[in-house]
Amino acid sequence: MPKCRICDGPVQEFFDFGRQPVSDVFPAPGEIGTEHFFRLAVAFCEKCTTVQQLEEVPRDRMFPTDYPYRSSGSTLMRQHFERVAAHFLATELSGPDAFYVEVGCNDGIMLNSIRDAGVRHLGVDPAEEAAKVAGAGGSRVHVGFFEESSAREIRAAEGPADLIFSANTISHIAYIDSVFAGAGVLLDHAGVFVFEDRYLGDIVEHTYFDQIYDEHFYLFSVRSVQAMAERFGFELVDVEHLPVHGGTMRYTTARKGERTPTAAVDRWLERERAQGLWELATYDSFAARVKENCDRLKETLTRLRAEGRSIVGYGATCKSATVLNYCGIGAESISFISDSTPEKQNRVTPGSHIPIRPAEAFRESYPDYAVLFAWNHAEEIMAKEQEFKDSGGRWILYAPNVHIV
Ligand code: TMP
Ligand code: ZN
Repeated sequence: MPKCRICDGPVQEFFDFGRQPVSDVFPAPGEIGTEHFFRLAVAFCEKCTTVQQLEEVPRDRMFPTDYPYRSSGSTLMRQHFERVAAHFLATELSGPDAFYVEVGCNDGIMLNSIRDAGVRHLGVDPAEEAAKVAGAGGSRVHVGFFEESSAREIRAAEGPADLIFSANTISHIAYIDSVFAGAGVLLDHAGVFVFEDRYLGDIVEHTYFDQIYDEHFYLFSVRSVQAMAERFGFELVDVEHLPVHGGTMRYTTARKGERTPTAAVDRWLERERAQGLWELATYDSFAARVKENCDRLKETLTRLRAEGRSIVGYGATCKSATVLNYCGIGAESISFISDSTPEKQNRVTPGSHIPIRPAEAFRESYPDYAVLFAWNHAEEIMAKEQEFKDSGGRWILYAPNVHIV
């Protein structure tokens, strides 16, 4: 039986999505067939409750220098990170000569606010092209992966960090022991390591099965992060639930004994116990719902196409890779996917090979239906595309179940 990456305990596989491509590498038409495939299977550890994948994709395959994702593509996320930056500037970074390190800074959506406040900072990101965007505005970025060795180099060159922050990145890193070792080396004794990631409780509650893709190696819960922090000499001292990306949890960890845990930690632990997040049976019933949703989605699209309706997709998300490849949906159902990211346009979706076009293509001639793959930005997108709805168009969503609005 495979072993847990956190506690070495045995893990139970509860869903196998089969062979899936790396989700955030979009082949140009001439590159079709070059995708890297792996077995996307998720497992639960009954000992420490961590949900994790069973096959690790080589990191250079997932995060090449031309990694196309740009965090600043969403207005709501920009506003979110402005608030996060303001919070840290008033707290962890308010001392003299504070030093901020961000793991996975991408295009600087958060880092730039810290820079603008004149606080010493360093972003760490292997995606060179995204990092260049952050650097263009004057932010300092170390191009590379965050791990024990790079953390040692940063510590030697810059001194200790008061805050290591990371949004939507720590769960991507299978070799989490090296990340915590790096945080241990780099953080000031009183510093904190804070990270935000998609929350397992929301994924289970709303059947957000498409949050399972290569990059989300771990699906964190409060209990599993507590176990992880303890394993590596840290302590989970605070948690805060955030509405972004369909449900995110912010975890604050500190060196063991440095800070008193807030009541929120126990409150969320109790909630997780009541939700059944610590029991394998919960994941078995989640798996049954995933199969049901995929069957319904495939049936719905097939029926609409047979009735002569036109269908496109909206948002060439990583999440869509799991939906399209697992459900077996391709260009015969979805003629193209609209996406605002220039780096994805005129390419195709990995594995399913659906062309990606700019939003102008969507607006030029509205389809009858649009599958909203970027459902985590639904509010922003539906407001922006009100005309589609007004002209008779309908959105198709597939979680918590397949429905048309
Ligand atoms: P995400 O769900 O991983 O954040 O990816 C969202 C994708 O959707 C990303 O490729 C950008 C795209 N997008 C649009 O095309 N239009 C929009 O208005 C927004 C917010 C995102
Ligand atoms: Zn475990």
